[in-house]
Amino acid sequence: MLKNDVLKTLESMRPEPVSGQALADRFGVSRNAVWKVINQLKDEGHKITSVRAGYYLEEESDILSAPGIRFFLSPDAATEGEASKDIPEIVVYDSIDSTNNEAKRRLGAGDNQNLLIVADTQTAGRGRMGHSFYSPKHTGIYMTLSVELDQPLYQPERITLAAAVAVVRAVEPFLTEQLRLKWVNDIFLGDKKVCGILSEGITDLETGLIQHAIVGIGLNVRPLDFPVDLEGIAGSLGLLSPTRNEIVGRITTELLCLYRELGSDRYLEEYLARSMHPEKVRAFLNQ
Ligand code: BTN
Repeated sequence: MLKNDVLKTLESMRPEPVSGQALADRFGVSRNAVWKVINQLKDEGHKITSVRAGYYLEEESDILSAPGIRFFLSPDAATEGEASKDIPEIVVYDSIDSTNNEAKRRLGAGDNQNLLIVADTQTAGRGRMGHSFYSPKHTGIYMTLSVELDQPLYQPERITLAAAVAVVRAVEPFLTEQLRLKWVNDIFLGDKKVCGILSEGITDLETGLIQHAIVGIGLNVRPLDFPVDLEGIAGSLGLLSPTRNEIVGRITTELLCLYRELGSDRYLEEYLARSMHPEKVRAFLNQ
């Protein structure tokens, strides 16, 4: 689709401008067609500026989009020769009840392919043990990666542990201090929880295989004020950059890579090094 192709190109060149003629030549369309999709993208809220040299995406343009995320999925995310199987279909919503709910609805409807569902805000974000997850718009990442695993996994907690390590690998390079991990699904910056993980799954009781891992990640990225009941407990990474598309792409890449070594203890060392309760991680490793 031309709109997605143009957005992906602007994302890849950001903040360098790309001329309307270059875009038209690249996608074999008229300059007028390019002009039309640029205006559609602006209407959707993308901060695109027109200069003599062409169009460029502003650094602070932070609209979640499938092409924007796809651009940051590294080729490492795909097993060699199996790219199309591993790389998830990406679906982005402005607002949804819960990205985990949507992933489960799609699986229930027979959509078995790998899926990445992302939303700008959630109206019924869920945490563990029936808790709700505060999901205001424009500031956070609410994503669910649903992947066909078909692996026997005698320690299902490993899925959540891998997700926590994926978040660490993806965002720590942008931080000045290490994240801290609270067994099993909470991520802290300093003494505030900045991220929660909700792992759900579909298991085949006959074979004992985990067929699908449905991993929901809620990450507070931009500076924000929390409601009174969360003040003092919840926090945010406080980052103004990079874009949320980049962070989602990095987390997804890391998690898809970690799924290939779920049974190994290597990534658990990374978890252990940041753990707030190392004795729990050691006990798990000795099981
Ligand atoms: C927790 O803190 O107990 C886990 C919170 C998990 C929140 C994420 S946000 C994306 C996904 N959709 C949900 O409804 N929950 C998870």
